[in-house]
Amino acid sequence: MIQSKVILITGGAGFIGSHACLVLLEAGYRLIVLDNFSNSSSESLRRVQELAGAEAASRLVVVEGDIRSADDLSRAFRAGVETAGSEVQTTCPVDAVVHFAGLKAVGESIADPLAYWEVNVAGSLQLLSAMRAHGCRTIVFSSSATVYGIPEQVPIPETAPVRPINPYGQTKAAVEQLLADLAASEPCWRIARLRYFNPVGAHPSGRLGEDPQGTPNNLFPFVSQVAVGRRESLQVYGGDWPTPDGSGVRDYIHVMDLAEGHLAALETLLSEEPQLLTANLGSGQGHSVLEVVAAFAQASGRPVPYQLVNRRAGDAACSLADPAFAASRLGWRTQRSLDEMCRDGWAWQQANPKGYSS
Ligand code: NAD
Ligand code: UD1
Repeated sequence: MIQSKVILITGGAGFIGSHACLVLLEAGYRLIVLDNFSNSSSESLRRVQELAGAEAASRLVVVEGDIRSADDLSRAFRAGVETAGSEVQTTCPVDAVVHFAGLKAVGESIADPLAYWEVNVAGSLQLLSAMRAHGCRTIVFSSSATVYGIPEQVPIPETAPVRPINPYGQTKAAVEQLLADLAASEPCWRIARLRYFNPVGAHPSGRLGEDPQGTPNNLFPFVSQVAVGRRESLQVYGGDWPTPDGSGVRDYIHVMDLAEGHLAALETLLSEEPQLLTANLGSGQGHSVLEVVAAFAQASGRPVPYQLVNRRAGDAACSLADPAFAASRLGWRTQRSLDEMCRDGWAWQQANPKGYSS
């Protein structure tokens, strides 16, 4: 384990970022979180500190700011100098960046593509420029299985064509391309492009979880809000897919497994020669919508009423990761089952029926 390195986490207050912060603190890292709280609250970071304990909590610094602002980025990198203190000997104040900050709703990206290109692409450009200016050339980037579009083959290997079908996916593919261009221009970059499949669940304490604003777009938060009684019933998008029970099949990944995948990627980058690596983070196991509904009803002891409706535009029948590369190169694979995703997601939902504002 590499300890006391300083990691800048953009978007660290969000769903995945908050769980990753906890895992990285527990692994001994010093963290600077840069977040503008546009889709999160500082309460998540307060809870990360509470779960991590007093010593680890002192290794987390929060900078409120925007990745599109050169000034805010400078403040975050300067916070790195202060955090490193005298005991840490590094050639640069921030050793690596884990870049979660961004917008992520497919429908919203179709309605407002400018916002998505502005935050996801222009924001990443600003961040990469600031990294270069501050001598930091190690980055783990949150990409998405959405870059594969409608897959031709499942499980999907990393070598599958990148063919996004909506503006959100286009912005992820654009940043992936930018990172590849940087790696080609300056071989000292250490870059991991992580393509997440379907992150769900919560920290087992029930203190950290997903806190969607408004009506959730994704299956899991919707199902848990039906179980807790916030919504009447789920609409299942299509019962006529070419899958065993006719509903869509996805590769759900527990957010704690995903957080541990970031630790594995970061430690691989920090301990090996400079490289550009691209890895799927998924289990390779598929679950249908109806299986998720049944597993959640079982975990919560509550009914999850649903109706079958038409397919949603842009959906695929089945999306599954080929997880072999992550297993061999990062030494990482998922550990947690669908039942654990439902159990932990339910614990979070029950204890925080209105998310962090409960
Ligand atoms: P999230 O919305 O919970 O977290 C994103 C965080 O970034 C939030 O705290 C938000 O306030 C912050 N942020 C947004 N714009 C910012 C800006 N301009 N400056 C600073 N901070 C900003 O989302 P998440 O689910 O934790 O996703 C994290 C990353 O993973 C995103 O890049 C997302 O596209 C990617 N991803 C998510 C999923 C998923 O299903 N959750 C799947 C694949 C990829
Ligand atoms: C969606 C996004 C994808 C993004 C991913 C993770 C679309 C078209 N794709 O993918 O870009 O990377 O989230 O954030 O939005 N379902 C229902 N009823 C619901 C919600 C979902 O039946 O109310 C079904 C879907 O049809 C799908 C499965 O549940 O079969 C999972 O849906 P979702 O959680 O939205 O994830 P993805 O479709 O994989």
